[in-house]
Amino acid sequence: MEKSQGKRESWGSRIGFIMAAAGSAVGLGNIWRFPYLTGTNGGGAFILIYLVFVLGVGLSIMTAEFAVGRRANLAAAGAFKKFNPRFTFAGVLGVLSAFFIMGFYPVVGGWALAYVFKSVTGLLSNSAAIGDYFGTFITSSIEPLVWMLIYLLANILIVARGVQGGIEKASKVMMPSLYVLFIIIAIRSITLPGAGAGLEFIFKPDFSQVTGSTFLAALGQAFFSLSLGMGCMLTYGSYLSKEENLQKNALIVTLMDTSVALIAAIAIFPALFAFGMEPAVGPGLVFVVVPSIFAQMGGIGVILSVIFFIALTLAALTSSVSLLEVVVAYLIDERKMERKKSVNLAGGIMVITGILSSLSMGALSGVKILGVGFFDFFDILTDKIFLAIGGMLIAIFVGWFMKKEDLKDELTNGGTIKFGLFELWYNVTKYIIPIAIGVVAVAGIMSIEQTALMIFGIALIVVLAIFSKKL
Ligand code: PFF
Repeated sequence: MEKSQGKRESWGSRIGFIMAAAGSAVGLGNIWRFPYLTGTNGGGAFILIYLVFVLGVGLSIMTAEFAVGRRANLAAAGAFKKFNPRFTFAGVLGVLSAFFIMGFYPVVGGWALAYVFKSVTGLLSNSAAIGDYFGTFITSSIEPLVWMLIYLLANILIVARGVQGGIEKASKVMMPSLYVLFIIIAIRSITLPGAGAGLEFIFKPDFSQVTGSTFLAALGQAFFSLSLGMGCMLTYGSYLSKEENLQKNALIVTLMDTSVALIAAIAIFPALFAFGMEPAVGPGLVFVVVPSIFAQMGGIGVILSVIFFIALTLAALTSSVSLLEVVVAYLIDERKMERKKSVNLAGGIMVITGILSSLSMGALSGVKILGVGFFDFFDILTDKIFLAIGGMLIAIFVGWFMKKEDLKDELTNGGTIKFGLFELWYNVTKYIIPIAIGVVAVAGIMSIEQTALMIFGIALIVVLAIFSKKL
């Protein structure tokens, strides 16, 4: 469907939209990042704080994004501009966030894809060498680059086909498959002897390791995992029909996303403890610990490993297409470009940032911007500042710059459906969320090591805000 000039594209069905929005939410954030953050932040306490942010902040912001997107019938930047031009920068910040996340996401997506094949070509044959194997793989120049490019190409092909024909169709197949695959692995994991210690690790909170940066990590993770704070859900909401119940959809998507994160933790930690391994290994967790677990299971391990990495790749794909879509929708709506051209332009830039990120693990490991390599630059800037500030901006925008009646009208479909918690949602979004994010951001930024990077990120947002009128 090529409808950039005429009628705007839309979702084909309700279930299609839910699958696409949940597809965007469920991704590397749930299966790669959530477990390793849980592992490095002490387990249950981190999960509990995370859940509080998801339900207390994330759900309301998702509702807000859906409402603003559908009301404006435009993607992020255009939607803000339509209601208040001084906020255009919040949309542009979202487009920038999408570019930055796509600066590192396809690299990890490429690793996941590579591991589908590596699972059957010897990765699991020597369990003691799996850590070194991962290290050698990600630091080599050509191999991860090739996988990253294949992964990125898949994104470009899907998004070029449009909203209904590409994103919706792909998500409708990929999301249910993912659920089934993960549940199989989780069941295997909790039935291993000694799995109880892992369940205790994730469900029995120990607050002794909690600091300011734990809260920032949990908040950033909530935004990242739910695809919030950068206009992605706003853009998806803009393709939604006027008959849909927005708050119900937001709740379904939030619960789906959270359940996958929890299932991923249940799949990983019981097995990890059953095999006497260490939880706090960082970003390599999924790629080192999970194959090690599978390697110790014999023949069935190979099959489970293939299933696991297919699931991870599919989950990643339905998320990165939404990131690409944020940029593409901006180019279509605001720059009046055609879909195919926009995809090629955005995809082309992402090839370059992806190459830099991939090489920053190896050949370019000496190149630092503000103290970190390319991969970390894109990752930390978005996860630790842009998404949280973006979420704060949408809360402020909805609470202070939109008409309350308009919001009520949008969320009740012109008074035809009920939203009993409207007042609660409105006041939480208007007063509590901006303050909560502000407090967490300040506490977190103060306890973070990459001070120069944080200052740069904030300065960038300020510059965007100042030049808002020109955007
Ligand atoms: N939510 C995705 C994940 O958990 O992997 C990542 C993501 C997608 C973040 C889209 C932001 C976004 F707009």
